[in-house]
This record gives sequence, C-alpha cells and structure tokens, in this order.
Amino acid sequence: MRKIKSIPSSAITPEFIFHERREFIKKLGLGSISLSILSSKSLLALSTIPSFTQAKDSLNQKLTSYKDITTYNNYYEFGTSKSDPYEHAENLNIDPWSIQVIGAVNKPFTMSIDELVKLAPLEERIYSLRCVEGWSMVIPWIGIPLNALLKRASITNNAKFVEFISLKRPSEMVGQKDNILDWPYREGLRIDEAMHPLTILAVGLYGKVLPKQNGAPLRLVVPWKYGFKSIKAITQIKMVEKIPLTTWVKANPKEYGFYSNVNPSVDHLRWTQATERRIGESLLSPRLKTQMFNGYANEVAHLYQGMDLNRNF
Ligand code: MTE
Repeated sequence: MRKIKSIPSSAITPEFIFHERREFIKKLGLGSISLSILSSKSLLALSTIPSFTQAKDSLNQKLTSYKDITTYNNYYEFGTSKSDPYEHAENLNIDPWSIQVIGAVNKPFTMSIDELVKLAPLEERIYSLRCVEGWSMVIPWIGIPLNALLKRASITNNAKFVEFISLKRPSEMVGQKDNILDWPYREGLRIDEAMHPLTILAVGLYGKVLPKQNGAPLRLVVPWKYGFKSIKAITQIKMVEKIPLTTWVKANPKEYGFYSNVNPSVDHLRWTQATERRIGESLLSPRLKTQMFNGYANEVAHLYQGMDLNRNF
C-alpha cells in the first residue's frame, strides 16, 4: 500500500482477505452473475466495440482472466481497496462524455468517444501492466494510438509535455469524499512519450467496451511505465510547456517520480522493484523477474538515452 498523508490503515484491505472474499463469492457461484450485470451497465458510453484488428503480438504470456482484470483494480476515486472500483464505479455517469484537447495546439477541439474511435482503426494490444506496488497483469486492450488524437490538434512548437486530467465528481465518485489525493487525478507525459506508437487510449478490453472500474469511457495505457501513469476516465488533454505536477508526484515526490519507467534496478523507497507477482497465479507461485521498461526496452530505451534513470525515476 502506498503512503499518502491521511489514509487510514483501516481503509486498506489486506490482499489475503480480498482473496478469501473472492473465493467465497466463487463458491457461491455469484462471480459470473455480477460480471454480467457489470457488462450491461458499461454499455452506456460506447454501446459496442466497432470492429478492431486483433493483436498480432501475444507477448507469449498467459492473459490475466477478465474477472481478475475487472475486480482487482486501483482507482482511488472509488476507494483504496482493490474491490472498491468494482463495487462503486457503476455510480459514475459516463454518458454523455466528451474529451477536450487544448493548450499549445493550433486546432483545439472537443469530441465524443464515438467520434474518437473513428480517428484511427481500433486495435487490440496485449500489454503487461506493472503496478508500482509490485503486481502485474496481462491485458488485451482495445484502443487507438494517442498520437492519432494529438496529430488532429496540430501541436505547436511550444508544447513539450502533455497533461491528462480526469474528473472531480464526489457525488458519483465516493472515494473523492476523502482528500486522500488531490482531485481530479492528473498525469503527464513528455511529448515524445505521448507520440510513441505503443502509447494508446483504450476504450475496451477482452473485445468488450471498457468497464467503468478500468477507466471507462477512455483511459491511457503506457505499457513501459508503472500503472499509475495510465490515467482513467480522461476528460482533458492539455499540451503544455512545463513539466506538469502529477497526482502521485504531488502526493509523495520522494517515492513517485514524473517518469516512472518500470525499472528493476531502481527500488521503491519501501520495497523492491526487481520482481513482481502476477495476478491470478497462486500466492505461492514464485515472483517473476521485472523487465527493464516492462519488457519494451527495444521499443523505448532510445527515448531516455543519456538520462540518469536513478535521478529521473
Ligand atoms: N486513474 C485514476 N483516475 N485514478 C486512479 O486511482 N490508479 C492508477 C491507474 N489509473 C488510478 C488511475 C494505478 S495505481 C494503476 S496500477 C492502474 O490505473 C490500474 O489499472 P487497472 O485497475 O485497470 O488494472
């Protein structure tokens, strides 16, 4: 669990209790029922996923189950335990939804998710998601490259970074009643990271519309960075000149950096980043070795040439 100023330890569900609860639900045979209720609720934003190109690259790793991907989540707007997003995200109204692209651009615009998915062919991307807390999943996302959206806005030469902003709606996002983090959740990338073809805006997973607990209707996925960079429920994308102050950096700058590239040789102040636990595997399974840039070094290492990654963590 991450250290933030005012988080009560009672709010944190130890993982083993959570797993026991899941086993209990499974035994009752309720898992599939609640999942089908959920997927019908998520139809609000984008009613179906239009046709998409299936992933060519499977990563050669077993996909995490749909159930684990949609019931073990981090989304502090709905609470700090892993089951809170699954239990409370249905209260978020995501229809209608629009996304604004503004700031240092020649052509600022606002568009709906329906329009957004027509900007580029939808693609399936199977990515590993490595959380800074030391666990990981393999998720078949569906989305478009972020660069398709940014190109449409025609970025000016002044733009050096991209800021992503989620939303503040405490009446629907029960976790926002606590000031655990500074709401709305904010994230950021350098322009070259944002334009990189691996960086996507996801609208779906496992061939279905994105569930709300995973960030519907629209979330970022940056596979070589710790999961907290992949901001959910985006409403605004702003091109800016200066490095934006992102949520986790503001909450605890000693422990969370702007770059947050997955790096097994730079430990978190309170735990190792050399290994990770794959969700869905038995708790007794050995931890996996964490890969530099989460296994995407061939594609992204050049972005950081000459940078001291110990200082720019
Ligand atoms: N986005 C918002 N708006 N709020 C959050 O609390 N948590 C982040 C990220 N995006 C978070 C967020 C963290 S810490 C992780 S690990 C991933 O979402 C988890 O994504 P998942 O729940 O789809 O696996």
